[in-house]
Amino acid sequence: MIKEKEYKERRTQFAKKLKPYSVAVLFSAEVKTRSNDTEYPYRQESNFYYMTGFTEDKSALMFVKEAKKTKIYLLVHKKDANEELWNGKRLGQQQAKEIFIVDDVFEYSELPLKLKEFLEAKQRLYYDFKLDYSKVKLLKRYAKKIDTFKNAASLIEKMRLIKSDAEIALIKKALDITKKAHHRAMKKASKLHYEYELQAELEYVFKKYGAQSDAYSSIVASGNNANTLHYIDNRARLTKDELILIDAGCEYNYYASDITRTIPVTKFTKAQKEIYGLVLDVEKEIIKMVKPGVMRSSLQKRAERLLCEGMVKLGILHGKVKKLLKKECHKKYFPHGIGHWMGIDVHDQAPYKTKKGKEVPLKKGMVLTIEPGIYIDEKDSKVPKKYRGIGIRIEDNILVTEKGAKNLSKAIKKEIEEMEAYTS
Ligand code: GLY
Ligand code: MN
Ligand code: MN
Repeated sequence: MIKEKEYKERRTQFAKKLKPYSVAVLFSAEVKTRSNDTEYPYRQESNFYYMTGFTEDKSALMFVKEAKKTKIYLLVHKKDANEELWNGKRLGQQQAKEIFIVDDVFEYSELPLKLKEFLEAKQRLYYDFKLDYSKVKLLKRYAKKIDTFKNAASLIEKMRLIKSDAEIALIKKALDITKKAHHRAMKKASKLHYEYELQAELEYVFKKYGAQSDAYSSIVASGNNANTLHYIDNRARLTKDELILIDAGCEYNYYASDITRTIPVTKFTKAQKEIYGLVLDVEKEIIKMVKPGVMRSSLQKRAERLLCEGMVKLGILHGKVKKLLKKECHKKYFPHGIGHWMGIDVHDQAPYKTKKGKEVPLKKGMVLTIEPGIYIDEKDSKVPKKYRGIGIRIEDNILVTEKGAKNLSKAIKKEIEEMEAYTS
């Protein structure tokens, strides 16, 4: 649980970043129609959630800054008995006043009035540049005198990079559930026949232990399907002697986990072990490099070099490592990044570079994934036959601490013998 005091502190920090005589407006997510009168499950907009912890739609948060002081207002949906009969209870203005430490709470229907009032004599307006057009239009209607528009989202996303203890506890909780899910999948793999059955086992565990949802669409990719990086079809039949790449993680109270394990249906073949061993060694090596001050690009470069060297040794690539790296030959088999920020979003939005183009070094409190992989298409005739159709990724979630990497997903088995003890 993240306490209101922490949300209040975030709002205070954000207010400090605003320039004098400005207004910032953040909106809740819209309810999205799936078809006709059915809707997708509602999920709050990540930055709005980070600032409030509030999960209702039709809400907004406003910062009104004068020369120095900032007033903060929350707008919430009104209580409406008929709507509550269908869609559940609303907090409403009165209760919101008791819960949120803000200067005042208004009804959301007052938004145009409040925009008119607050934007009157201001110079700057901060809002999320990815906001729906209809909302931007509304803002601009009342922003005739504003001369500077700024992206509120990028300021908040930068704040989100450093996780508090309470946030780390939630990521750990998400990972504890995801661990149970992956271990269950390992134990079930040899007994099931289709990828979607394994997906069901994973997602059963997510729900069973209280996760609200998956953090992204689960990837259960057997055999050559693992070479499609975002394979989410999950309809194929499992075949003995094939590997299954499982990239699945739950979201718990708005915090993600993002874990990949590549498991055998029963046991690894010799060729599979050779590639798996290489990816695992590289993953461990890169995790060891994580510490404050290190650049993500150094992790990427080192992973590319180690994978390239390993692939030369296995006869997947031919030639001098230096030349192969220069010509980016390894990218055919390792085409993606070594990892990404993670938090409220599975791919937390914070930039990897500053505005001036300088790279952001790792700092204490950041959480990132490390996820090297090798993907060899079944039709790749340039590679020894025994390796074709193998796709392997191993992914863990790492907290940067003063002392270096803390692997938050360490408890999820990834050694060959450990996994085979579950699968066979
Ligand atoms: N699950 C998406 C990713 O690994 O980035
Ligand atoms: Mn990832
Ligand atoms: Mn992943």
